[in-house]
Amino acid sequence: MPVVRSIRERFAKETPLDGLRVAACLHVTAETANLVRALEAGGAEVELAAPNPLSTQDDVAEALGVDLRRGQDPAEGIVRAANSKPDAVIDDGGDLVVALNEEGVPDGFVGATEETTVGLVRLRALEREGKLSMPVLALNEAATERVFNDRYGTGQSTLDGILRATNVLLAGRTIVVFGYGFTGRGIALRARGAGAWVVVCEVDPLRALEARMEGYEVLPAADAAERGDLFITVTGNRGVLRGEHFKRMKDGAVIANAGHFDVEIDVAALRKAAKGEPDEVLPLVERYELPGRTIHLLAAGRVVNLAAAQGHPAEVMDISFALQALAIEWLARAGERLEPGVVAVPAEIDREVARLKLESLGVGIDELTKDQERYLSSWLR
Ligand SMILES: NC(=O)c1ccc[n+]([C@@H]2O[C@H](COP(=O)([O-])OP(=O)(O)OC[C@H]3O[C@@H](n4cnc5c(N)ncnc54)[C@H](O)[C@@H]3O)[C@@H](O)[C@H]2O)c1
Repeated sequence: MPVVRSIRERFAKETPLDGLRVAACLHVTAETANLVRALEAGGAEVELAAPNPLSTQDDVAEALGVDLRRGQDPAEGIVRAANSKPDAVIDDGGDLVVALNEEGVPDGFVGATEETTVGLVRLRALEREGKLSMPVLALNEAATERVFNDRYGTGQSTLDGILRATNVLLAGRTIVVFGYGFTGRGIALRARGAGAWVVVCEVDPLRALEARMEGYEVLPAADAAERGDLFITVTGNRGVLRGEHFKRMKDGAVIANAGHFDVEIDVAALRKAAKGEPDEVLPLVERYELPGRTIHLLAAGRVVNLAAAQGHPAEVMDISFALQALAIEWLARAGERLEPGVVAVPAEIDREVARLKLESLGVGIDELTKDQERYLSSWLR
């Protein structure tokens, strides 16, 4: 992770986070460990919690010396992190911000960052009700995050999780992607690249039209249910694949979720429709017997790229966590000046992350000439 490393080296010299207590709710992976080390190099004390019971890598937790284990209920760690009287929060899903918000924001608190779409949806709902009592930087909406994390990271790692769990051949299969947002676009792109026929299901006409113009087939879910071999939900919404769809699926259909919460596939409805208990035919692959068909559910409907693979590749998390580190530095420098509310990541942070990444790749780019700068900043032609 060369970008985080370069930030860590600068932090070690400048210690911009001296004495800052950071509570972080992040998947406990090697990449997170690198972010923790960078923050510590900047002078911060970090209290780590995990947002998902299946994403913790035990060896990483052990190396960091934190009391977190795979399979553990995340609630305990989140309460501990909220109680640690943090000055800043890094969150993934909104649980930690919500917990701290309910408990009362500690004195000297500078702000939080939120890593995911679903977390921002929740925190904006809290803000609309006038109950959000801290500033939150919408990291997930930063340009670098959208492109690298959501499109390329989730796109590749979702298919990686499905392949590791099932070893199915993607070429020639019909893959149905639910949701053509930033993540859905990435999954559809990689699935097509692997030779699959890709069907997109959407509820937003603009996104559906974009998918169609990209050359994907667009269908309502009920029709797609009959066509698909592999179904991937990635909408941030609940009950996207439900009883009425399971009944129409082909024998042998595989279903997986890449959305943050395990609510996108209605697993209770699948259980209800099935005869008896599901069989675990492979680790993380459950076979449900329905009348006339078997359906395979991956990772119990939990986020498949983290449960069945290693999450995003380190190069992607390098960008996301560089953004996190610079955002925490920016909040620390801003102090308590920011008003409560969800706010955009300053463009200069995005540009700095992209600049550091290009530098790490050895890629040079041009600069505007003086004449071009004048031209672009004037109304005269
Ligand atoms: N697995 C990962 O690594 C990873 C990474 C980033 C985001 N996420 C999660 O993926 C989910 C989607 O994130 P995003 O950034 O793509 O969001 P987004 O808002 O950009 O896109 C979601 C899309 O789903 C559509 N949608 C909503 N309900 C639907 C339904 N019932 N049927 C079909 N389409 C529907 C919306 O219209 C929207 O276009 C969120 O839960 C997010 O937290 C996961």
